[in-house]
Amino acid sequence: MQDLRWWKHAVIYQVYPRSFQDSNGDGIGDLNGIRSRLDYLVDLGVDAVWISPVYPSPMADFGYDVADYCGIDPVFGTMQDFDLLLAEVHRRELRLILDFVPNHTSDQHPWFIQSRLSRENPKRDWYLWRDQPNNWQSHFGGSAWERDDKTQQHYLHEFLREQPDLNWRNPAVKGAMFDALRFWLRKGVDGFRVDVMWLMIKDDQFRDNPPNPAYQVGESTRSKFLPVYDSDRPEVHELVAEMRAVLDDFGDRVLIGEIYLPVQRLMQYYGPNMQGANLPFNFQLLRCPWTADDLARVIGDYMSALPAGAWPNWVLGNHDQPRLASRIGTKRARAAALLLFALPGTLTIYYGEELGMQDVPIAPDEIQDPAEKRQPGIGMGRDPERTPMPWDRSASSGFSSGLPWLPIGDVNKTLNVESMRADPNSMLTFYRRLLQLRRAQPVLVSGSLTDLTGDDGVMRFVRSHATKRFVVLLNLAEQERTVVMSAGVITACTEVHREGEAVSQTAKLAPAEAMIVEVSAGDR
Ligand code: GLC
Repeated sequence: MQDLRWWKHAVIYQVYPRSFQDSNGDGIGDLNGIRSRLDYLVDLGVDAVWISPVYPSPMADFGYDVADYCGIDPVFGTMQDFDLLLAEVHRRELRLILDFVPNHTSDQHPWFIQSRLSRENPKRDWYLWRDQPNNWQSHFGGSAWERDDKTQQHYLHEFLREQPDLNWRNPAVKGAMFDALRFWLRKGVDGFRVDVMWLMIKDDQFRDNPPNPAYQVGESTRSKFLPVYDSDRPEVHELVAEMRAVLDDFGDRVLIGEIYLPVQRLMQYYGPNMQGANLPFNFQLLRCPWTADDLARVIGDYMSALPAGAWPNWVLGNHDQPRLASRIGTKRARAAALLLFALPGTLTIYYGEELGMQDVPIAPDEIQDPAEKRQPGIGMGRDPERTPMPWDRSASSGFSSGLPWLPIGDVNKTLNVESMRADPNSMLTFYRRLLQLRRAQPVLVSGSLTDLTGDDGVMRFVRSHATKRFVVLLNLAEQERTVVMSAGVITACTEVHREGEAVSQTAKLAPAEAMIVEVSAGDR
């Protein structure tokens, strides 16, 4: 894999910093906590760490409301702590990816404080002010416009009213934001995950969004309209390319875009001539029904939509989505892990996925997420998937000596690292082995993916290059299945004891069993 840039064969590990490791007993994870767990990540075998925002923030959206793009919030530590973390990450030959939030700032950012002072303020045009609101709706419910009494205009906020949207058509905004990127690039960070990349530019005429004919009562108010004019605008691609150029000036860095769009539109974010995002996040597996034919269709559609030169990537979870094990069940989560590590390209795993962590039920008085507070009871809340990492068997699971900001949750207490580390059958051990396998078998990263089918409850595909060939099988049926195939040897299996077993002509798979079988190159 020598000829591949580092991020192409990387497995990226997303840390939600509030919940990974607390070092000072305030119940909230921090940078020194992350630093103290780096050896765990090395041992697991990942290549890069992406940390959700740690910039100064009033925490209305837990850091996705940034009040200073070039600082560290005291709840997470100091700039010195950050520098030390970065140095320790690099000393271990890991990479560090920061979260960049370009669409909006906090309403406490000095730019916005200026902007709302008067219509004539030089920063007025840094945000999107209008005399009248249009029908655009916030992702967190209700109108995306907030009236400001003092200056009698409305400002746009695609998320909370505490998160006013920046005006990226203003060259001064672009300049200031690109300087913020350079600040971190100069320190040596290895790349950025760009928050809501597809929302950065809005229609310059602020046209109303058309109604969504599929809207159903009880859904989020945003679903009432089709997001035609406030997202995925044609001009966004030029902006992404400019952002990419900022990174390219610093050499070997990676630009990742958070983009929730159908596959064809997602692909546009690679940019013409691959000058856009290196990796527009592929979220297709987050919403795919977990059946053989659906998975085969979704994987096939994604692979065939990739433009020439585009590098694939895969994601099974993040801090905005219900956890994998809760979505599809514990047994199938194991098969999903095997699937993930058998797919081509860059992989991103969400902290705790390697333990099979589950969503934690959150009592009404424990709710933290503004998305749940603003639209209660319709499944918008993200606290369940943001609960603390369980490290050991102690009271707060080794996460904190204080009271954790979100409950550890009984469902996750037993899924701790300490208990799993020594268990050869644990999810953690399985992840470690899959990571080792991927490192040892470059064909899994960059070989071709062919012969993809999803028949009779079994999903199947082949990963190969000239001298290696692996058949990947997942039984997603409720009953055992027998698959006809060439003779080979089981290289990895959800049933660990089957590894090394010879397969001749047929392989039997129990429900939710999955395996990677090495066959001789040239066979199917
Ligand atoms: C992204 C983040 C999410 C945040 C939102 C607003 O979708 O992943 O957590 O609430 O942007 O910044």
